[in-house]
Amino acid sequence: MTATAGTDQLVASMTLAEKAALCAGRDFWSLHGVPRLGVPGILVSDGPYGLRKEHATEQVQLGDSVPATCFPTSVGMASTWDPELIEQVGRALGAEARAEGVSVLLGPGVNIKRTPLCGRNFEYYSEDPLLAGRMGAAWIRGVQSQGVGASLKHFAANNQEQRRFSVDALVDERALREVYLAAFETAIAGGAPWTVMCAYNRLNGVYASEHEWLLTRVLRDEWGFDGIVVSDWGAVNERIDGLTAGLDVEMPGFGGHHDQLIIDAVNNGVLPVDVLDRTVARFLTLIGRTAEARAGGHAYDRDAHHALAGQVAAEGTVLLKNDGALLPLAAGGRIAVVGAFAKQPRFQGAGSAHINPHRLDDAFTRLSELAEVTYAPGYRRDSDETDAALLAEAVAAARDADTVLLYVGLTESYETEGLDRTHLRLPASHDTLVAAVAAANPRTVVVLHNGAPVELPWHADVPAIVEAYLGGQAGGSAVADVLFGLSEPGGRLAETFPHRWADNPVHALPTGPRQAEYRESVFVGYRYYDTAGADVRFPFGHGLSYTSFAYADVTVTATGTGPVEVTVTVTNTGERPGSEVVQVYVHHPAAAGARPEQELKGFAKVRLAPGESRTVTVSLDRRAFAWYDVAGATWAVTGGRYEIRVGASSRDIRATTIVDVTGDGPAAPAYPVPAAGRQWDRDRFAVVFGRPLPDNTPDRPGAFTLNTPLDDMRSSPVTRLLQAFARRQARGFVKDPKSPMALLIGAMLEEMPLRMLSMMSRGKVGRPVQEGLLDLVNGRRLSGLRRLVRARRR
Ligand code: BGC
Repeated sequence: MTATAGTDQLVASMTLAEKAALCAGRDFWSLHGVPRLGVPGILVSDGPYGLRKEHATEQVQLGDSVPATCFPTSVGMASTWDPELIEQVGRALGAEARAEGVSVLLGPGVNIKRTPLCGRNFEYYSEDPLLAGRMGAAWIRGVQSQGVGASLKHFAANNQEQRRFSVDALVDERALREVYLAAFETAIAGGAPWTVMCAYNRLNGVYASEHEWLLTRVLRDEWGFDGIVVSDWGAVNERIDGLTAGLDVEMPGFGGHHDQLIIDAVNNGVLPVDVLDRTVARFLTLIGRTAEARAGGHAYDRDAHHALAGQVAAEGTVLLKNDGALLPLAAGGRIAVVGAFAKQPRFQGAGSAHINPHRLDDAFTRLSELAEVTYAPGYRRDSDETDAALLAEAVAAARDADTVLLYVGLTESYETEGLDRTHLRLPASHDTLVAAVAAANPRTVVVLHNGAPVELPWHADVPAIVEAYLGGQAGGSAVADVLFGLSEPGGRLAETFPHRWADNPVHALPTGPRQAEYRESVFVGYRYYDTAGADVRFPFGHGLSYTSFAYADVTVTATGTGPVEVTVTVTNTGERPGSEVVQVYVHHPAAAGARPEQELKGFAKVRLAPGESRTVTVSLDRRAFAWYDVAGATWAVTGGRYEIRVGASSRDIRATTIVDVTGDGPAAPAYPVPAAGRQWDRDRFAVVFGRPLPDNTPDRPGAFTLNTPLDDMRSSPVTRLLQAFARRQARGFVKDPKSPMALLIGAMLEEMPLRMLSMMSRGKVGRPVQEGLLDLVNGRRLSGLRRLVRARRR
């Protein structure tokens, strides 16, 4: 079948039951087809930086999937600031999916890194929507070029893991449009994904899975999205509301547990059959789009993908500090390699994005090829406590060496889906190790492995710091090559490193229990720090090079209402080849109202030989100057003189120029411009939000709902029994109780609502049983028992 041919006839020839069946998965990873009509079912798999195709489709087995290439995690990809390279990654991912018969890859994630503590930040690109959106678009283009669909996720405002199944993100529409939705809008405009995955959370009071404004009016009517919306796994609340709102496919699906609901809704006139037909037609389009990839006979070159993963790791490695040009290291000399990560790399995050790599490079092996090295682990990977013997051994090794390469970072349990970090520090044993090693040897290079910013209290005591992120399966060797100058550190930060967590605007804002209040509005990441004039450890866009660059002749070619072309000449003034990321920020005139101090509106990566110059052009469209006028329900440009700032980071502006822009709308309304350390007031936010803020306290006994997190209902013995039972079940397949998987499951059992028992029980515990349990939990024993008995009889 082709994308459109015969779609209408096919829809017309399907029975109601066949149509209803297409609205949910067959199990965890496969979607139904209609065999009678020759419509095949398809397979979907995670994820954003590698293929996680599980061996069986009827269950989830985190940690056990077919071997695949583990590329650097999304944060490392974003740090390349190189959409073309990420498009190549997308092509490789698409090729692997295709070779494994997978029709849709569940990525990319373009959620904004509102807080550095979000447990999934390694899976997301940036705190900036333009960068996140462009990276996402490139990834999608690459994957879909192979005939495999992408699933842009998690739509929308899924910016924390804490209480993700129930939390209500309260975001004013301007912040939504300018920051949170903007990343999705850019990815859709530039990538045209075939599917979008809705988020678990609520947005402004409504579950994303049944948010008509989000899923239909914005996504389809405004942005022109023409694919399928799938639910995040277990995100469906009310199935019929979801379908009506624009959610097409429920995942996972078990034995058609919602089919009858859909059939009844159509028969009762609650659900117009057109709504169902619309979803079926979209599904058939997806089947058509992915047909060629399913034809079989596809293979991929593992070695080439490994090499590409290494290239991306180097290009995304950020040289944070390099006093006295300690790096790159010259050949020769005695090197002490310290830190267990050098031999057992920390190269990816945990959760649904976890890959089973077909090969894994470690830094130590590659470093041994490049220099004379000794090794000391320095810390235990399974504990945050300092091990005195390992510390002493590491200090002795450091003393004996000319240079120390010290590998530290976050251990696995710090970064997993389902859990946010509780602080921004490294494990205590790592901080202690850095301090001791730096005191023993002043030529200490710290190599960091982590998926999001960390505090660096010893920052002033070491001359060089390399942010290697979670660099995928080839990261160990790729970063070793960077340290020795065989490749360059091509990365720039896609996020701000604050001095400490307390500096972050979100740190004192409520992230629960019921609502996450986005009181900082548009002042997210550097938009906050730069507006508040707050000092940061490393600014957004920062990254040093082994060479140096000069910027000259910044010009703008247009004024008025057309696009503005910014040109700048960049020269490599150093002795080595290198790449520079030219960043273009727009600073709004005072008359434009409450706007961030500056916003990234364009960028370009240039590679230059020593002495080489190149003129770079970055085009800024009208949107680059606009803000979202909620009252007028439109993007508005305030007329005036805008400063164009061109630089190597948000705090390293090398040249500026002015452009006169003709306006078409008012100035942005006043909003308290943030000052460092000042918190946003709840009442003031309510004004910006446009209505009174709901009560932010947990549900009370007697008024619990199917959406109340289990832990909020622990006062009931029924809940405690349920949790104990679930824990016992989980123990059967999680061997190590300290593993990230155990932590993830533990968090799920605390935060999931009764509604999600259907997914956890693979469809066995349906609505009637859930309602019976709810009555019991709410103390309505008789009614609860009656319901349970009735449910059993069915
Ligand atoms: C995650 C998604 C993922 C899905 C399937 C969910 O828990 O939030 O990102 O694609 O599971 O594994």
